[in-house]
Amino acid sequence: MLPAKVKIVEVGPRDGLQNEKEFVSTKVKVDLVNRLANAGLQNVESASFVSPKWVPQMADGAAVMAGIERRPGTIYSALTPNLRGFEAALEAKTDEIVIFGAASEAFSQKNINCSIAESITRFEPVAKAAKEAGLRVRGSISCALGCPYQGDVPIEAVVDVVQRMKALGCDEIDIADTIGVGTAGRTRDVMAAVSKVFPREQLSGHFHDTYGQAVANIYASLQEGIEIFHASVAGLGGCPYAKGATGNVATEDVIFLLNGLGIETGVDLDQLVEIGDFISRAIGKPSASRVGRALLAKKRDGVAPCV
Ligand code: HMG
Ligand code: MG
Repeated sequence: MLPAKVKIVEVGPRDGLQNEKEFVSTKVKVDLVNRLANAGLQNVESASFVSPKWVPQMADGAAVMAGIERRPGTIYSALTPNLRGFEAALEAKTDEIVIFGAASEAFSQKNINCSIAESITRFEPVAKAAKEAGLRVRGSISCALGCPYQGDVPIEAVVDVVQRMKALGCDEIDIADTIGVGTAGRTRDVMAAVSKVFPREQLSGHFHDTYGQAVANIYASLQEGIEIFHASVAGLGGCPYAKGATGNVATEDVIFLLNGLGIETGVDLDQLVEIGDFISRAIGKPSASRVGRALLAKKRDGVAPCV
């Protein structure tokens, strides 16, 4: 049986924008976060407190967090790779911090400049400090369905990192398909394996849509009882350390899927489509959301587009 309710973690303001070459103004970022929260997204990943040399687009994280309105009940998350990032996130009144590791050694080195084991050691004091400060802690596992450098990633490697993240006290753990190579069959197998070692209602699916499989992977995850999914409005994004990978699955496409299944999300699709249009214009790129483009065309011209 599929879940009756799903939580969507909107990652557009962080994962979506982090790879944009042209700097997106703080005002646009703040506006984006506010609009998303107002559209009913209960969890918005809003900033990264990482090295600005590594990801220049996220350098204004503190200003973004200072500028946003705090909608009661909404969780505003930020990425924190180390204690320095955590201190900045705490200062910025972040509700949830994200420690981000990988199931692939090669990707761990490229993304955070250390081995998987070293990353866990680095996350230990971060998770501890976050818990002491009363913050939620989320652990993200990149390359859970494949790696741009090493190719296949064994399921045992994913399970191993889930266990280590669990030991750090993570409230939620993301199974991330960084380069969008996962298929529904592999996704089902990975989700089934990780839910044996961590509560399935605290696991989430983070699917990039490079190969167009993300919606199918979400459906496969729903069948495994997964209730949390990440998505990016207008399908924004890509990872600076995974060349060729496209953005996350578009939030509009996920909401359309879930609405069709009668699964509650609390997200207003009409508002979301307008937000997709707003951010696509702001960065000067067409929306990658099929649903967003179709609904916008229907609204503006009264017809569905022939594509
Ligand atoms: P490093 O070079 O090994 O560390 O980087 P370092 O301690 O030697 O620091 C290097 C410089 O960064 C120093 O500055 C530090 O002060 C500074 P310098 O002395 O050269 O002027 N620094 C910082 N500045 C601001 N905030 C900080 C911070 N820490 C150090 N917190 C480090 C290690 C982890 C810092 C670096 O590798 C890094 O920032 N990586 C971030 C990479 C990243 O953000 N990637 C994208 C997000 S992950 C993702 O998108 C995947 C996900 O979506 C899931 C999926 O799809 O797979 C989550
Ligand atoms: Mg990602």
